[in-house]
Amino acid sequence: MIKVKNLGKEFTTPQGKLTALQNISFTVVEGEVFGIMGPSGAGKSTLVRCLNYLERPTTGTIQVAGRDLATLNPRELARVRQQMGMIFQHFNLLKLRTVAQNIAFPLEIARWPREKIKDRVEELLNIVGLTDKAQAYPHQLSGGQKQRVGIARALACRPRLLLSDEATSALDTETTQSILGLLQHINRNLGVTIVIISHELAVIKQMAHRVAVLSEGQLVEMGTAAQVFTRPHAAATKRLLTTDTLAPPVRSQPLSLEPALAVGEVI
Ligand SMILES: Nc1ncnc2c1ncn2[C@@H]1O[C@H](COP(=O)(O)OP(=O)(O)OP(=O)(O)O)[C@@H](O)[C@H]1O
Ligand SMILES: [Mg+2]
Repeated sequence: MIKVKNLGKEFTTPQGKLTALQNISFTVVEGEVFGIMGPSGAGKSTLVRCLNYLERPTTGTIQVAGRDLATLNPRELARVRQQMGMIFQHFNLLKLRTVAQNIAFPLEIARWPREKIKDRVEELLNIVGLTDKAQAYPHQLSGGQKQRVGIARALACRPRLLLSDEATSALDTETTQSILGLLQHINRNLGVTIVIISHELAVIKQMAHRVAVLSEGQLVEMGTAAQVFTRPHAAATKRLLTTDTLAPPVRSQPLSLEPALAVGEVI
């Protein structure tokens, strides 16, 4: 679904060139949850921003569904981006728009007809369990509710892929669990492939089928979650695992979905 080959990214700063990513190659397979972890500054956000060309790679290629993003014109790129929803740590909601209007926003940009937007927004509110908050404004919501709006907005155009950059890092443990439950539901029941980035190992451990470890802009390890967490090879991974001992333990019981999510909605 996504093929990254020899990706490199340099930034020009007042202090000179900064290499944020170097020679990164990996593939994200349709249907999986692919986790990217690594310490602060390792290049995780830069990598995820390259995946949808919010950031242009300096070297290397990114193919999405067989198409090299570098060869697309702006219109084609916009269309591919609609296939890739993105959620953020700080939600990035529009303050002056209601929940329903926030969710409608990408559909307006994609020029959906008004009636279809209304139906789709209702469907999305139901998926994320916020039907009763449709007319609320972002400042009237809790952090978890704001992230649910962010997720609904990211799913609006029926993307095949969801990019999640530290989506739960601003949330408490319980709210994190409910958001991770929602993301698992979206992956399993709606068939959306997810790339999840987190510096919280517990989140990656709980969510990801396969894991890549970034350290100082390089991909130092990749494997199944079981391999990476129980038999890490790279020194950077070992460091990450040992310095994370203060983090709360991963919950062993299955995630509970909220009632609104238990039905198998179709996106
Ligand atoms: N627009 C930019 N201009 C210059 N340097 C940048 C830019 N964006 C990121 N960087 C640098 O690239 C490196 C990687 O940053 P990035 O935000 O990708 O790290 P990260 O792994 O997401 O960290 P965190 O866990 O703190 O979010 C850092 O050294 C950062 O300062
Ligand atoms: Mg980041």
